[in-house]
Amino acid sequence: MTASPDRLRRALRQQLESLEAAGAKQLPRPSVAVLAHAEIEAPADLRCSIAPALEALRLEVAACTRCGELARTRTQTVFGVGDPGARLCFMGEAPGADEDRQGEPFVGRAGQLLNRIIEACRLRREDVYILNTIKCRPPNNRKPAPEEAANCRRFLDRQLELIKPQFICCLGAVAAQNLLGTTESIGRLRGRVHPFGDIKVVCTYHPAYLLRNPSAKKQTWDDMKLLMRQMGTPVD
Ligand code: URA
Ligand code: URA
Repeated sequence: MTASPDRLRRALRQQLESLEAAGAKQLPRPSVAVLAHAEIEAPADLRCSIAPALEALRLEVAACTRCGELARTRTQTVFGVGDPGARLCFMGEAPGADEDRQGEPFVGRAGQLLNRIIEACRLRREDVYILNTIKCRPPNNRKPAPEEAANCRRFLDRQLELIKPQFICCLGAVAAQNLLGTTESIGRLRGRVHPFGDIKVVCTYHPAYLLRNPSAKKQTWDDMKLLMRQMGTPVD
């Protein structure tokens, strides 16, 4: 659907109001152009209604300074990528160096493996939504501190509220433990379906772990087959 000028005006007004509510005092010019463009380009009905709110949230994340060290050391925040109307979200840990540079999750070596996993599920990267537990790169790729995950949680929750995925695949212990609020190991969390509100969650190993431990790929493939059966699109 193409957005009418009226719809566009309404969407932009809503975005500006939510930015104002979030404490924004001014909006950089290019962002407005990007917003308008995103609204006109969005092809599906669903995307037309979600995309502006997601974009407003993305700008809110970009301005966040709650974690002092991360805000000082990041190149940029890494919000998420993919279809805002996706049934399936992949959730990682935190941006690495490549992601920090490019502003997109899972674009480095782990990301290439994730792309292959997604394709093995007979999906494309553009069909799913990919996001991280926290939106800033921790220096030296250290694990996100619990306080950092807590600071970022409202952004994650809001992102999931807008996208409303039916399924989430948690990649690695940080994503799984933070989303589900547990300290159980990834080895014990994988292989079954966990409820998260109305969302079905499947946990598996992080692709970076699989690069170091290729023999665990078999278990991740078992987890993907479980996920695809749950989604009604079995791959075995
Ligand atoms: N590892 C993650 O957990 N997320 C990314 O975006 C990249 C690598
Ligand atoms: N430990 C993690 O944090 N993630 C994995 O995927 C495996 C072990």
